[in-house]
Amino acid sequence: MLYINNASTSSPKPEAVYKAVELCIRTSGMSSDRSSFVSKLDFIPNETRALIAKLINASDPTQIVFTMNGTEALNLAIKGILKRGDHVITTSLEHNSVIRPLKHLEQDGDIELSIVQASSEGLLDPNDIVPLIKSNTKLIVTAHITNVLGTTIPIEEIGKIAAQHNIKYLVDAAQSIGFADIDVEKMNIDMLAFPGHKSLFGPSGTGGLYIKKGIDLTPIKYGGTGNLSEPITQPDFLPYKYESGTPNTLGICGLNAGLKFVASEGVANIRKHEHELACMLYEELSTIKGVTLYGPKSPAEITSIVAFNVKDKNPMKVANTLITKFGIITRPGLHCAPLTHQTVGTWKDGSVRISAGYFNTKEHIDEVVKAVAAITAT
Ligand SMILES: Cc1ncc(COP(=O)(O)O)c(C=O)c1O
Repeated sequence: MLYINNASTSSPKPEAVYKAVELCIRTSGMSSDRSSFVSKLDFIPNETRALIAKLINASDPTQIVFTMNGTEALNLAIKGILKRGDHVITTSLEHNSVIRPLKHLEQDGDIELSIVQASSEGLLDPNDIVPLIKSNTKLIVTAHITNVLGTTIPIEEIGKIAAQHNIKYLVDAAQSIGFADIDVEKMNIDMLAFPGHKSLFGPSGTGGLYIKKGIDLTPIKYGGTGNLSEPITQPDFLPYKYESGTPNTLGICGLNAGLKFVASEGVANIRKHEHELACMLYEELSTIKGVTLYGPKSPAEITSIVAFNVKDKNPMKVANTLITKFGIITRPGLHCAPLTHQTVGTWKDGSVRISAGYFNTKEHIDEVVKAVAAITAT
C-alpha cells in the first residue's frame, strides 16, 4: 500500500513516536497527576507544551492548551471568545471545523457572519477583508494553508489588519504547523488552533490551542484538573482553565516524540521535501490529457497538496480505482470543505486530493502518475 493522504493525518509516524506511546502505556498507566505515584514521565506534558511554544514562538508554554484535535481547539477559541451581538469574518476556503461552529452561532442568532470570497484558484486577497469590518467585528478566522488546494493565506497581512482594527485573529494551522514557519508574535496571531496528528507526527486524539496572554475564553468544559482540588469552581489560569478530565497522556507522549522529530529534521527541510514532491506531481499530472488540476499553478505557491479530477470520471471512482487496482491511498470528495469546492468550481463531486508527506519519495510520485495515466486512458 502507498499512503499519500498526509493532509488527513500523517502516516507512517517516525519510529520514535511508536516507541514513545508504547513506553508511556507501559510505564505511566497509573495516570499522571491523579495518584500518589509520581511517574518518571510526568514532565512530558509540560515539556511538550514547551516544544510547541518554541515552534510557534509563544513566550510562555502555559499558553498552549491541549485538546483532542484541531476541531476541539477551534471550538474552544470560537465559542470561548464570542458573545451575543459579535460579528465574525471568515473566508470561503475554510474547513467545516471553522464554518460549522460559526454557522451554529449565526443560526442561533448569537453572531453575524461575513464570508470573504477567494479567487477560483483558491487565493485570498487580504484587502477584501477590510470593507467587511464593522464596529462589532470581534474576530477574524482563517486557515493558514487550505486543506483542499494547499494555498497559503497571507496570515501576516491579515494579522496586521486585525491588530490595526483591534479585532482578535484566530488562525487554523491544521495544514501548516510543522510545515510552514509560524511566529505568533510577529504575525499578530491571538489564537492558533492545531492538530497534533498531521505534520507534528503525533497520534490521533492530539491537538492544541495557543492563547495569547490577556485573552479570556469561556471554557467549553469544566471539571477536575487532577490538582488544585480545593475550590469547587474552575481554576482561572492557563492551562488548567481549559483542560478538564483525564488527559490523553499516551497521545501527548507520542506528540512529544513527533515534535522532537520535527525539531531534529527541521521545518524547512520537511517543507522542502514535501514541496518538491508536490511540484513534481503537479508538473507530471499536467502533461496527462484529461486531467484537470486545481489550485495554484506556480511552484512558489504550491505547498504539499495537489487536487485534480479526471475527465468524465467521478473523483470517488478514481480514488477507488487508485486503491483497489494500484494500492494507492488518496482522499476523494469534498474534504470537509464544501465552500472551497464551490469557490473552485468542483462542487458537488469534489476532487481527488494527493498530499505528500515527509516519508513519501519521488518513486511514490512516479507510481501515482503512472496509475492516474492508466485510469485516464480507460
Ligand atoms: C484546514 C483544517 N482545519 C481543521 C481540521 C480539523 O482537524 P482535526 O481533524 O484534527 O479535528 C482539518 C483536518 O483535516 C483541516 O484540514
